[in-house]
Amino acid sequence: MADLFDQATRRGFGAPTRFEADIDDCEVLGKIPTDLNGAFYRVGGDWYYPPLFPDDAPLNADGYASSFRFKGGKVDFHGRWVRTHRLEAQKAARRQLYGYYRNPNTDDPSVRDLLHPNLRTVSNTAPFAHAGRLFSLKEDGLPYQLDPNTLATKGTWDFHGKWKSETFTAHPKIDPLTGDMIAIGYEAKGLATDDVYLYTADKQGNVRHEVRFKQPYVSLIHDMAITHRHVLLPFGGYVTSAQRLKEGKVHWGWDSSKPSYIGVIPRDGEAKDVRWFKGPERCMMHVFNAHDEGDKVILYAPFYDSNFFPFFPNVDGAPFNPSKARAFIRKITIDLSSSKDTYEEEILWPMQVGDLGKVDPRVVSLQSRYLYTSFSDEKRPYDRAASGPNAPARMTNSYGRFDLKTGKLDSYYAGPTHTLQELSFVPRGRGEEGEGYLVGVASNYAEMRSELIIADAQRLGEGDVARVILPFRLSSQVHGVWAGADELPLR
Ligand SMILES: [Fe+2]
Repeated sequence: MADLFDQATRRGFGAPTRFEADIDDCEVLGKIPTDLNGAFYRVGGDWYYPPLFPDDAPLNADGYASSFRFKGGKVDFHGRWVRTHRLEAQKAARRQLYGYYRNPNTDDPSVRDLLHPNLRTVSNTAPFAHAGRLFSLKEDGLPYQLDPNTLATKGTWDFHGKWKSETFTAHPKIDPLTGDMIAIGYEAKGLATDDVYLYTADKQGNVRHEVRFKQPYVSLIHDMAITHRHVLLPFGGYVTSAQRLKEGKVHWGWDSSKPSYIGVIPRDGEAKDVRWFKGPERCMMHVFNAHDEGDKVILYAPFYDSNFFPFFPNVDGAPFNPSKARAFIRKITIDLSSSKDTYEEEILWPMQVGDLGKVDPRVVSLQSRYLYTSFSDEKRPYDRAASGPNAPARMTNSYGRFDLKTGKLDSYYAGPTHTLQELSFVPRGRGEEGEGYLVGVASNYAEMRSELIIADAQRLGEGDVARVILPFRLSSQVHGVWAGADELPLR
């Protein structure tokens, strides 16, 4: 198993890059739309030093931010490390000091600090822009604020002392109607605690509401959804404990006997208002969107049948089962008028999809028509010979627009030697839902370089409108986000 991860994360296209970069006027194929004025930010992991344990989770790699700044049909690129406390400590020591993913018991004694586990964050998961500030996020620590022009790290951010959780989600939500940010921290009181803190900050970034409550068992609440009236917190399967961490294991194990849960709390509710709705074994990582329908709450999410991450082992010792690591687009219905404590689920498309899905940010919390995510289209050609020996068995070669109204799927195909990372939606003008672009980075295995794809979200079948060509491999993104020049103080 260690060899498998070594191959996937430290060799070939996913190997560490270990450099920072600035490129003005990137090479472009096609024509960059002149109405694109803003920046596409990405955050991912890139091991500065190799992991202490070869079977460690790739999710433990050092945070690396990159940006593509678009203006007047031109594109400038920047790539920077997130200068976390942890990276600075390692650079000073000139070696890896930190052990397993979210387990300080496995750290080098020189940095082992069980009282301040959030100093261990690698901040490698998601960029986020709110109230004129840009952040890099990871759910095991506080946000790091970045300069939106240079990506220089400014330090951690605690909302003027009002953020009391030790942790901050990688997936806060912004209400497009009010500009409010809704975010949580789980394991809020420290490692393996079942405390969840939920915050609302106004459009100026000032915290105006806090709720503290417990979850049914300590687990990973990776993403969240909002409706006009409610906050939804889905989780399931992953477990941890102080004992597990003392035993020197990676933070999470998978327990297939555990039910999944979706917490529902009114947007301005209190701890007594939280209700947990139960379901079968599910790996609930990311959501598309949610909305209210009378007394019902509807959630669209690409949840997995079971454990998706082979590096978080099954607690019963059973081997990882890839045939259950399948994500489908699911519609989940919760009836708040019923006394039942279960949710209902329906699979909307019988095809496997990538679970890094998005909607047009203008319809977050509202009834949306289109869901966007990547998938592997087996009907499209894959040139394995040209892609080289390090290419994956299947390419994530397509972006899809899934139409909830008609059931139609429109797709964009990236080419026979390309695999796609997560897409982001760039709204265009003040148009209706769906008017805009899909942007995302593709790995070109034939040329061993990265390309930023820009496709018209309403004309995916026509191919991309432009590609930004980088002269090197870019470290893998976890998440990306578009921020317009009206959202951040961009030069
Ligand atoms: Fe995520």
